[in-house]
Amino acid sequence: MKRAKIAGTGSYVPLNRMTNDDMSNLVETSDEWIASRTGIRERRISTGENTSDLAYEAGVRALQASGLTAMDIDLIICATISPDSFMPSVACMVQERLGATRAAAFDLSAACSGLIYGMACASSFIETGMYQNILVIGAETLSKTLDWTDRSTCVLFGDGAGAVILSPSDTGKGISFIQLLSDGSKQDYLCLPAMPLRNPLIQEENSQSQVITMKGQEVFKFAVRSITDHINTVLKNMELSSVDIKYIITHQANYRIIEQAAKSSKIPMDKFYMNLDRYGNTSAATIGIALDEMAQNDMIQSGDKLILVGFGGGMTSGAVLVEWD
Ligand code: ACO
Repeated sequence: MKRAKIAGTGSYVPLNRMTNDDMSNLVETSDEWIASRTGIRERRISTGENTSDLAYEAGVRALQASGLTAMDIDLIICATISPDSFMPSVACMVQERLGATRAAAFDLSAACSGLIYGMACASSFIETGMYQNILVIGAETLSKTLDWTDRSTCVLFGDGAGAVILSPSDTGKGISFIQLLSDGSKQDYLCLPAMPLRNPLIQEENSQSQVITMKGQEVFKFAVRSITDHINTVLKNMELSSVDIKYIITHQANYRIIEQAAKSSKIPMDKFYMNLDRYGNTSAATIGIALDEMAQNDMIQSGDKLILVGFGGGMTSGAVLVEWD
């Protein structure tokens, strides 16, 4: 059985920046409030590109980084809660645009944990030998899912895509531990309704609006606990200590969440990579964008161990331990 390694990373965000000052022209808020409560300074907001456009661009860049061609890809998984359409999937749209005609393709819904869930699927396919090269993309245009009059949510999110290509490792390095968890009893913490129930047998109109709603403080507590518990589980199961870990890359939701998690897991903050000041919360895309930035800036060398931790609506959470090949 061969482990899966990360063979390449890629990311893409829309060019258009919206600063906290820009947000204060839309809702009653301020740079001071947003930055001090969340760490976010600006986010990228689409001026026309949809999720498949961002996913495609991130996929192209991941392919370039891996040295593979589109025809080498066996499977494309796109994690998203903001697809262009329920059908066709974003993954199928990307497959067509890349010309990855050999690849199977499907979307996966696990909210902000989506890239971790996608990597877990891909890693399992590779370990069984069913597939060799798998493109996993986390891509979102959350801007189309926001209530732009609700200051408690619209300031938090942004658009973007991050991608990884997983391939079999010849060195024994790669993904050595995965943990996925879900808790449907907390499903009301974060919601984004789909199409309302509507057919000739249903009399009353369902007027639920299709925007993100959130119980901020509950999400905050869930997130801190999830990060801390996942890190402890990875370290305990793999008989490692935090000094063995080069970086921890968590879902980028809020600076204070990561700060609290660092404190409760007694790990220095400088091990936690953060870029949410520039992109806000791009849901399934955050971890892939962060990984790609780190790879491009030569922050990760062969043999470095990284813990990736996602948490999000559902509620879902998950962690991956990866040794850079
Ligand atoms: N600007 C100015 N004031 C605001 C804003 C804003 N953008 N948003 C809320 N407020 C106000 C509220 O109206 C409230 O005012 P009031 O006291 O007069 O009623 C006050 O600020 C405090 O509101 P709270 O919601 O209690 O603020 P809190 O301290 O909890 O911070 C926050 C809100 C930042 C969202 C916090 O709860 C949080 O970080 N939660 C985690 C949620 C998160 O990060 N979600 C991201 C998506 S989830 C995910 O990725 C898994």
